[in-house]
Amino acid sequence: MELPLHSATPIEWGRAVLTDPLALLVDHAFLEKKAANNALELMTRWPADWVPGWVETMTGVARDEAAHLAQVTRLLVRRGGRMERIHKNPYANELRLLVRKGSAGEVVDRLLVSALIEARSCERFSVLAAASGDEELQTFYRALCSSELGHYKVFLRLAYKVAPKAGVEERWQRVLAEEARILEAQPPGPRIHSGVESAR
Ligand SMILES: [Fe+2]
Ligand SMILES: [Fe+2]
Repeated sequence: MELPLHSATPIEWGRAVLTDPLALLVDHAFLEKKAANNALELMTRWPADWVPGWVETMTGVARDEAAHLAQVTRLLVRRGGRMERIHKNPYANELRLLVRKGSAGEVVDRLLVSALIEARSCERFSVLAAASGDEELQTFYRALCSSELGHYKVFLRLAYKVAPKAGVEERWQRVLAEEARILEAQPPGPRIHSGVESAR
């Protein structure tokens, strides 16, 4: 897979988090919800016509994420789990701290951070598909990986459309390096963006 990530998740991470598949699905549902909200937020925050395809792209991503959320929720409920009300995602929160708020770079950073979360999610889903012995989950994670891969490419392409290439490239390298550091510092546990036990 053509992902630019600076660290690779070992299969052991997948086996460890799949020991609590319901908790993993709960965390995952929040992730999809956040992704849908993020796309709509980007859409409304910047003018509709400032980049060709802005509204179409963001509504398309939001629609995909809403569909993912519905799928995760269906799986969760069918397997006897239930959604929780409160959720923490220190990984995404720390990534968002990299965004240069109130500057011309803000939209570039938001697009790059979005691209990165998509890329890492895709990588994690592919590890989960490989680590799971459950056919339904394998198919599910594989399908999500390919959808998030598409989103990663869309966000990255948009980042290069809204600002000069050199600046975007430099910023992209910076957030890629930061992401690997942030992910590694996460505690292990049944979450999509948790740390790897052995790496700590
Ligand atoms: Fe998704
Ligand atoms: Fe996505």
